[in-house]
Amino acid sequence: MIRSRREKLGEHTLIRGDCTTVLRRMPAQSVDVIVTSPPYNLGIEYRSYQDRLPEECYLEWMEEVCASLKRVLKDGGSFFLNMSGSSSQPWLPFELLVRLRKLFVLQNHITWIKSVSVGEKTHGHFKPLNSHRFVNRNHEHVFHLTKTGDVPVSRLAAGVPFTDKSNINRRRHAVDRRCRGDTWFIPYETVRSQKEKFSHPGTFPVALPEACLRLHGAVEGDVLLDPFMGVGTSLIAAERQGLNGIGIDMDTRYVNRARKRLRTFLDHGSIDDTIAELSEEDHV
Ligand SMILES: C[S@@+](CC[C@H](N)C(=O)[O-])C[C@H]1O[C@@H](n2cnc3c(N)ncnc32)[C@H](O)[C@@H]1O
Repeated sequence: MIRSRREKLGEHTLIRGDCTTVLRRMPAQSVDVIVTSPPYNLGIEYRSYQDRLPEECYLEWMEEVCASLKRVLKDGGSFFLNMSGSSSQPWLPFELLVRLRKLFVLQNHITWIKSVSVGEKTHGHFKPLNSHRFVNRNHEHVFHLTKTGDVPVSRLAAGVPFTDKSNINRRRHAVDRRCRGDTWFIPYETVRSQKEKFSHPGTFPVALPEACLRLHGAVEGDVLLDPFMGVGTSLIAAERQGLNGIGIDMDTRYVNRARKRLRTFLDHGSIDDTIAELSEEDHV
C-alpha cells in the first residue's frame, strides 16, 4: 500500500497516493468538476502502474473508482472521463461506459479529434499504425457523465465564433458565438525530439480540460478533481480558470513533475505543453 502525501501549491492540492484510498477519505459532495484520463489498460509503460490487467479486473477497478467519484461529486457536478480503446481492445471504453450506467447518466459524448484531414490538408498529429487491417486512430472519447442528466452546460462559453457573421443578426444571437458541438479538434503541440517530451507517456493537452471546465460553466473558486493527475495538466487548466484543483497520482516522479509545471505556470504564466505521442513522420 502506498502512503499518501499531500501538499498545497497556491490554491491547489497535490496528493501522491492511490486514488482508491485517497477518495475514500474525501468528504462527500465536495467537488464541482472531475476531469480525468485514467490508464486505458493498453500496456502503456507508466513508471509505477501496471497498465495491463485482465480486462475484468480493470473494469471492476474502474467501476469502484467511479463509484467513489460519484460520492465526492456534487449533485450538480460534471464528470468528464477521457478514454480511448485500441485496435486490440476496441470495446473497452464502451464496456466501461455500460457499467457506469448504474452510477451516472451519459449527458454528452464528445469526440476529441487529434488529427483531421479536410480535403487534402491534414491538421494535427496522430500515432501511425502499421496495419493492413486498421486505420490510424485519430480520436479519443470524452464522456460527460452527470448524476441526473440535466446539469446545465455553458454551450457558448465552450463555443466558437460564427464563420458566417450574417447569422448573428439573421437569427438574433446576442453574441458572436455558437455551440461548438460534440467534436473537438484539439491537437498536441509539435515535438521534434524525444528530449522535448514529458517524462510521462500519456498526457492530454491543457486545452482539453480547459474546454471541459468551460462547458461545465465552472466559476472561480469551484473545485476540480483529477484522480489520475499524471503531470498535472488538469491542474494548470484549473489555475487558468481560477479553480481550486485537487490532483492525485500514485507515482512520486509524476507528482514532482506536476509540481514543477504548476509552479512554472504560477511564477511565469507559461505552460510547458510540449507533449507527444507522435514520431517525426506525423508532423504536419
Ligand atoms: C493517462 S495518465 C494521466 C495523464 C494526465 N492526464 C496528464 O495530462 O498528465 C494516468 C495516470 O494515472 C496514474 N495512476 C494509475 N493508477 C493510479 C491510482 N490507483 N491512483 C492514482 N494514480 C494512478 C498513473 O501513474 C498515470 O500517471
